[in-house]
Amino acid sequence: GIKIVTIGGGSSYTPELMEGFIKRYESLPLSEIWLVDIPEGKEKLETVGKMAQRMWDASPYDVTVHLSLDRREALKDADFVTTQFRVGLLDARIKDERIPLSHGFLGQETNGPGGIFKALRTIPVLLDIVEDMKELCPNAWLINFTNPSGMVTDAIVRYGKWEKVLGLCNVPVNSLINEPEMLNVGEGELTHHFAGLNHFHWHRVKDANGHDVTDQLNKQLVEDASSLPSNIFDVPFFEEQLQQMQLIPCGYHRYYYRAEEMLEHALKEYNDPEIGTRAEQVRQTEKELFELYKDEHLDHKPEQLSQRGGTHYSDVACETIASIASNKNTHVVVSTVNKGAVPDLAPDDVVEVSAYINATGAQPIAFGSLHPAERGWLQVMKNMELCVEEAAVTGDYGLLLQAFIINPLIQSGESAKQVMNELLIAHKAYLPQF
Ligand code: NAD
Ligand code: G6P
Ligand code: MN
Ligand code: MN
Repeated sequence: GIKIVTIGGGSSYTPELMEGFIKRYESLPLSEIWLVDIPEGKEKLETVGKMAQRMWDASPYDVTVHLSLDRREALKDADFVTTQFRVGLLDARIKDERIPLSHGFLGQETNGPGGIFKALRTIPVLLDIVEDMKELCPNAWLINFTNPSGMVTDAIVRYGKWEKVLGLCNVPVNSLINEPEMLNVGEGELTHHFAGLNHFHWHRVKDANGHDVTDQLNKQLVEDASSLPSNIFDVPFFEEQLQQMQLIPCGYHRYYYRAEEMLEHALKEYNDPEIGTRAEQVRQTEKELFELYKDEHLDHKPEQLSQRGGTHYSDVACETIASIASNKNTHVVVSTVNKGAVPDLAPDDVVEVSAYINATGAQPIAFGSLHPAERGWLQVMKNMELCVEEAAVTGDYGLLLQAFIINPLIQSGESAKQVMNELLIAHKAYLPQF
């Protein structure tokens, strides 16, 4: 049978992952699941681990969930390693969001200064994990969810020299699920085609007759934002811009296309002690979820988990793993090496693209060149990512400053440097490279 190891197993998202594996058990027979965490996460791991075992016990399948604080013990002979950890836990995310906001900058834990620092904390840990995998499970696939998912996947290939990795995100799958419903057509009738970067992709859609329905969907998406992940405030896109680009932007593009309004909303929540930043809101949701997980009668994923922005991530994770394991050639949107699919970026850059997934990994589908407006954004964002990754490996202060200056969500100047310095101090314990 297949052995799965999940690093960051104490995450409140784990029951969703279990549900995904239980649903697909007939096509993906697992024998062992190992949930790995660190001493700080021990209590979470035990609570969610027992919950995970109850879910399997309530299913027709005989699967044991092993809990471990010893990553190396767990990794031995793994077939798939999934990563969903948060270095520094939610306290670190609170700092990522609050420190920038205290200077009038958007925090944003994946795209803004927060995301840059999340990458700096995460990349060294992932590179260690890869070294362990080379020794203990050299044939395994690494399925990464840890954010910023695109940047860290790129760093795993570029600096870890590990090619059997796919970076995942739930944002594209939300479109794949919702758009057929929006057009009242059956699942599988539409052809979706994605390209860009994680939390910075665009897509186009064709119907069963090959007609482009992108415009029609964009018009509906401006009216109805129900497919937007719950962590993103809905400022509608400018219709004239959508009409011009002939692509559907991802939810996160709001941070760039309507930066003023997104910052205004984030500041309003930050300044209201009753609301707080998203991280503080999530802390409350997480508390409630763990209370539920402690209930020994609960043996299925609770409804409340869908309040988290990452809902549906297990559909992507489990589908990807099942497609590799049974050479299915399913269409999944993944962060993977470009190989020319997006000619506006280098062939060895990791991009987020539509790909067919089989036993060899991802076969990216050619998207073709973007128009100047999107190409400009994309090249800025990718090169910003490359600066962050290199700074994460080398601890080069000047290069990190370059990334801050390039990042479109950060207005350059003294305040930006101040935010960067404060974040370096706040996260010192998790930044061995600086
Ligand atoms: P969380 O704060 O609950 O952290 C998950 C677990 O990681 C915790 O139990 C923690 O103890 C553990 N951990 C921390 N450092 C670790 C280390 N060095 N080794 C092993 N475990 C470690 O986080 P969460 O809110 O459940 O999110 C988990 C991760 O998944 C985050 O990185 C988040 O950004 C990411 N995420 C990604 C997507 C996506 O679309 N790609 C969706 C949802 C969540
Ligand atoms: C999303 C993203 C994830 C992100 C999450 C945040 O939609 O795709 O990458 O981490 O939601 O959700 P949260 O509930 O933690 O704010
Ligand atoms: Mn994501
Ligand atoms: Mn909000």
